[in-house]
Amino acid sequence: MNPGMPQKVVLPGVKQVIAVASGKGGVGKSTVAANLAMALRMTGHAVGLMDADIYGPSVPIMFGLSVDPKTTPFPVEKYGIRLMSMGFLVDPQQAVIWRGPKVAQAVSQFLTHINWAPLDYLVIDLPPGTGDAQLTLAQTAPLTGAVIVTTPQDISLIDARKGLAMFREVRVPVIGIVENMSYFVGEDGKRYDIFRHGGGRKLADEAGVPLLGEIPIDPLVAESGDAGEPIVSKYPQSPAAAAYLKLAAVVMEASAHTAASAEKLPEVQL
Ligand SMILES: Nc1ncnc2c1ncn2[C@@H]1O[C@H](COP(=O)(O)OP(=O)(O)O)[C@@H](O)[C@H]1O
Ligand SMILES: [Mg+2]
Repeated sequence: MNPGMPQKVVLPGVKQVIAVASGKGGVGKSTVAANLAMALRMTGHAVGLMDADIYGPSVPIMFGLSVDPKTTPFPVEKYGIRLMSMGFLVDPQQAVIWRGPKVAQAVSQFLTHINWAPLDYLVIDLPPGTGDAQLTLAQTAPLTGAVIVTTPQDISLIDARKGLAMFREVRVPVIGIVENMSYFVGEDGKRYDIFRHGGGRKLADEAGVPLLGEIPIDPLVAESGDAGEPIVSKYPQSPAAAAYLKLAAVVMEASAHTAASAEKLPEVQL
């Protein structure tokens, strides 16, 4: 073992740990994480959602929860999902100005000091980007695999590619790519490609990983997020909800596959 290598945290009783990542912010990563967690819960699984985005926590708003950290035992539960976020500990209006190592420490405490088990799935909303904090997390969290969220634009794809490279470097399997804000379904029921659609497919093909889903742009996605209930449960009949539910089904299938093939992989000595 390389002494400079961070140790992997062990989470007994947590079957699968799925990271939701993106190369850049604002692509809908947290919304994917929240809806994935909710969809997994709606299919009868025991689910946790850990918001590891220390600088931009969004779980408190997306789940409509504010708590008094002094009197609240963590994880808190809403809609049957176990939740943890920096936003429960500090005022979300206050910018958290922390350096990398302290961020890594906070997040590793979310993993080690919180009683997540028993869980079928722990979804982790990773901070955007591929810096030190993200790298440390990718190395220390016992990840089954990572889901990478991108929008169709080139600029987002370039950053998503960096995200792919980061997970490859730390030997975390990439479960696949999600293209968010992929298209728009008009009142007429027609599908409009607002941005150049298909970037997610291109990236997935290039990296040899599955395209897990394409999520349409839908104002109800943002409305539900702001209202504290993910769209998959608030408006399950909407096209975006259908896309998230389908995504969850594909992720379940693919991550089971990823977990099974990872068991067969020999230990890599770095
Ligand atoms: N498919 C979508 N359709 C419409 N709005 C979306 C969609 N996905 C995300 N949003 C909105 O875009 C904003 C950014 O999404 P968020 O999940 O916070 O991004 P990130 O975590 O990548 O920074 C939020 O207001 C969210 O509600
Ligand atoms: Mg976010």
